[in-house]
Parts: sequence; structure tokens; C-alpha cells
Amino acid sequence: MSTLTKAQTTTQQDTFPINGTDHIEFYVGNAKQAAYYYQAAWGYRLIAYRGPETGCRDKVSYVLEQGKIRLVLTAALTPDSDIARHVHEHGDGVKVLALWVDDAARAFETAVARGAQPAMEPQVLEDGHGRVVLSAIHTYGETIHTFVERKDYHGAFMPGFEPREPMMDIKPVGLQFVDHCVGNVELGQMNRWVEFYQNVLGFKLLITFDDKDISTKYTALMSKVVSNGNGYIKFPINEPAKGLKKSQIEEYLEFYRGPGVQHIAVHTDDIIYTVSELRRRGVDFLYVPETYYDTVPERVGHIDEDLEDLKRLNILIDRDDEGYLLQLFSKPVQDRPTVFYEIIQRKGAKSFGKGNFKALFEAIEREQALRGTL
Ligand code: FE2
Repeated sequence: MSTLTKAQTTTQQDTFPINGTDHIEFYVGNAKQAAYYYQAAWGYRLIAYRGPETGCRDKVSYVLEQGKIRLVLTAALTPDSDIARHVHEHGDGVKVLALWVDDAARAFETAVARGAQPAMEPQVLEDGHGRVVLSAIHTYGETIHTFVERKDYHGAFMPGFEPREPMMDIKPVGLQFVDHCVGNVELGQMNRWVEFYQNVLGFKLLITFDDKDISTKYTALMSKVVSNGNGYIKFPINEPAKGLKKSQIEEYLEFYRGPGVQHIAVHTDDIIYTVSELRRRGVDFLYVPETYYDTVPERVGHIDEDLEDLKRLNILIDRDDEGYLLQLFSKPVQDRPTVFYEIIQRKGAKSFGKGNFKALFEAIEREQALRGTL
């Protein structure tokens, strides 16, 4: 039984307006080296910095940008900081999924009134370039949503940061915007978090995948996708399902030591260029066997791309009734098998590559087997 459901078109008022993703902040062990990796391998531009040189004594942050995607890489300068504790516990990982709103104080009040756990009371930051208002609430695990109001700000990132030039010549790889961010939660917790996004942030349930959709011979997971009023924010939430062996979600929860962000999907208009460049620069991706491509023509029908290019770059293809999509998944981008990236190019399709789940999860299981965690 498949439980794929289509998004409901609704004329109801958006009860929690969010303009889009503002930034994603990672807590890392070494922000300087992480910033180099994202510039050299992924083509992000360094645009802003804060640290001892700018008067911030206990942490450093590098702000990187490509298209509409903004990453903040933050590391501790002292052993007793919460950032150091977070990295000790989780390894490098996503701390903040920041949401861009018009009124951060109101967003906070509304969310807390609807049951959100406060993480930061609204605070106003000001410098010569204007004013930013920040507030934050907790979501799954130790992850937080910061609400960022920046309509009166014209500086590089926000007060406290100084503009910076990239460390090297930057050649972007064509990444444009965050398509979706996926969270892994514990067994039995998926619905709780789906309800949180529905009740607190006014999201709608977009799609449900059960273990019949997402299972291989050995492992399974369940997933529900929620989306905000304007559709720009999409958060799939995964939980493990019973299988013969340890699922990739269980492996994540074990290594991250709790729930957290599993992958960030970034959109490109030219996946062949993007993936060629990323591979050339040393980003490694999951491997799908060549036999995957034998059934692509009958499964997907006509596509604009040359199938040989897709095969050479190991890009996956899927079709739904609105069009098709091309996607590829990186291996984890830090030592622990936790956060990874998806590169996605949508050509009409609004779905998530259900036709690729089996090949994809078998690829992940091969990696788990190499790590001895299947
Ligand atoms: Fe995804």
C-alpha cells in the first residue's frame, strides 16, 4: 500500500508567514578549515566573519554564500562553551535552521504561544548598517530555528560580523537555493514533530512515505514531508522502521547521539555541470551500480539530458506526474556518518525521488557495511 498523497491546494491564510531559509549554521571543530572546504570544494564565497579580531572572544564564525544559500560555520575558542560541548557530543553538525521572517518578535510570541520551547528571547542587534532582530525556538534534538528579521539591515550578514573576501579565487558550482532540509528523529517521534510543524509553524503535510515505500531487503524508514505556507521551506522528517538490520536512521542517531539534520538538498539548474565540478574538486558521492540505468528509459521516458552523461556522473533520475528530477547524494561531509548533501535539479517534478529510494538505500547500506554498522 502506498500512501503518497498530493499537496492540498488551499486558499487558507498562512498562519505563520516565513519568507524562506535565512541561513544554516553548523557547529564545527575547526571553522577555518571547514570554510576552506566549502570554498575550495563547493564553490561558496566567504562574505563575513566574526572572531577575536572583531571583538568576539569566545567563538569564530565564517559566513559563506552561493546563490541564495548562506552557511555559517561556527567553532568554539574555549573548552567550556556550549559550542565545544555540542561538537564533543554530536561531531560537526547543523545547530540552526534559520528562518527569514518579517517580524522576529511576533514569530517568537506566536510560536511559543502555540507550544514551542523558547531558545532565545527576541533581541535587537544594531550597527552602522542597520538593525536585525533575532529570536529562536527549539525543534528536534538540539537543533533550533532562529527567526531572522533583516528588513532594516544592509550590511554583509548581521551586526557583529565584518565583511570578508574569499580566501582564494572562487568558482561557484551553480548551487542556487535550499530545496529541503531533512531531520532524523527517534522511533515513534516522527508524528510528534510533524504535528509540531503543523500546530506551531502552520506547516502542511505534503507527502507521507511508509516503510513499504522506503525499504530494502534489510532496512526501512518512514518519512513525512511538511511545508510552510509559501512552499519555500520543506522539512522531511524521518524515523527508523523495523528491518532485519540496522537502518541508516539508527546509524545516524547512534553517531549523532540523538535527532538532528540528516541532509540538506541544494538546487542547481545544471546538475551535470554542478556534479562534474564537485567530483573534480574531490566531493565524493554515493555509488549506484550501472544496472540502475538499464531501466531508466522505460521508467522515466524522455529527458533532455544525455543518459550517458548521467551514467558517467552516477546521477539518479525519477519522474512524477508533473515532470522529472535529477538528484545525487554526497557521502557524509564530516568524520561521523551523519550530515550529507543532496544535489537536486527539478524539471517540473515536485516530489522527492521515490523511484530512486531502493537504489539509494542499497547504496547507503553498502557504505554502512563498510563501516561495520549495518
Ligand atoms: Fe532529500
